[in-house]
Amino acid sequence: MEKEITEKLIKEALDARSNAYAPYSHYKVGAAVLCGDRIFTGCNVENASYPCGICAERAAAAKAVSEGFREITAAAVAGSSAEICTPCGMCRQFLYEFNENMTIICCDDKGGSEIHTIKELLPRGFGSGSMK
Ligand code: THU
Repeated sequence: MEKEITEKLIKEALDARSNAYAPYSHYKVGAAVLCGDRIFTGCNVENASYPCGICAERAAAAKAVSEGFREITAAAVAGSSAEICTPCGMCRQFLYEFNENMTIICCDDKGGSEIHTIKELLPRGFGSGSMK
């Protein structure tokens, strides 16, 4: 992954936090997914019925897929604390569906980052090949 693209994804993820709806946790998250040369962003959207809320990564990926972009090469996620934000288990599985070799850029609130692959974060994930 080129440094320039990595930095762009980090910036987009940090910026996407501004629309986060997080009145319960007060933890704003932004995500940006790369599909070819297109970037789709998302934020966490919480709900008074807590489990109804959606994470930033799934919001961004659903935007990409619903616009016709299914091949996600990389995803960045940025939290709003000094701790690096890593995708939750459900988001790992959700992202794995759209590229088992995806690059995942995990960021803190200042854009400090660590880079993983989805397979590192979700070893032996369940994919369409598992049902063959
Ligand atoms: N959250 C995300 O959006 N992405 C993550 O990677 C971790 C958690 C959200 C869910 C919830 O709105 C809030 O952060 C606290 O868990």
